[in-house]
Amino acid sequence: MALLPDKVSLLDVSSGRNVSAKIIELTPGLARTHIDRIWWHDFDARLPEKFPEDRNWPWAMLAARAEGSQDFICIGMNIVGTKEICGAMLYQTGAASFFNPTDLANEVMLLATPPTSRGLVPANLGYRGVGSALLLQATAHSYIRGLGGRVVLRAISKERTIQFYRNRGFDSHSTESDGKIRMELRPESAQSWLQKEGLV
Ligand SMILES: CC(C)(COP(=O)(O)OP(=O)(O)OC[C@H]1O[C@@H](n2cnc3c(N)ncnc32)[C@H](O)[C@@H]1OP(=O)(O)O)[C@@H](O)C(=O)NCCC(=O)NCCS
Repeated sequence: MALLPDKVSLLDVSSGRNVSAKIIELTPGLARTHIDRIWWHDFDARLPEKFPEDRNWPWAMLAARAEGSQDFICIGMNIVGTKEICGAMLYQTGAASFFNPTDLANEVMLLATPPTSRGLVPANLGYRGVGSALLLQATAHSYIRGLGGRVVLRAISKERTIQFYRNRGFDSHSTESDGKIRMELRPESAQSWLQKEGLV
């Protein structure tokens, strides 16, 4: 399935060095042990009263649902030589374009990095490049499936999040009743990103 290279290079913020990582299938066991029990453990007291939306995303349960499914794919980013998982994504292959519903697309349902990577703790920790590499994987998979790299998602309505997707070529389509923003990476933008990364 993968068009991406085996290894992905991430910036380790605390050391300023690059580290090697790989995209892995997220099994329920890995998700439980290395995400659900780790990412938000001990962080409650330091967080603002209102938790970010992804605070309660149940990765082990999501990975269990994806396991054996033809349509849902749950992957994680693992730092090579460790058990650490520094990002996770759930996407599905049976979606349609927002702009032209007869065109098929991959849909990113959930994408997250740990709070340590997002300025939610005082220390400057975590990695850069995780979200981009996971998103690129969904794009490459769409391209391999003959969908031109088209990817759709419903983004949390935070300027920083929307900008993250815009910077990767996504266009906004419309706003849903719950405030989420429908966004789409169209084939022209997808392919120019894949080309920039040397993948096509
Ligand atoms: C949105 C989210 C997934 C982004 O993931 P991320 O790992 O922080 O994203 P990246 O590190 O790939 O990109 C963030 C910035 O770091 C930069 N970056 C990436 N690799 C880098 C590197 N090696 N060196 C320096 N900077 C780098 C990127 O260019 C990007 O900046 P830009 O958008 O101005 O180009 C993450 O912030 C998150 O989990 N948010 C909370 C949950 C959420 O909102 N999920 C989305 C639901 S719709």
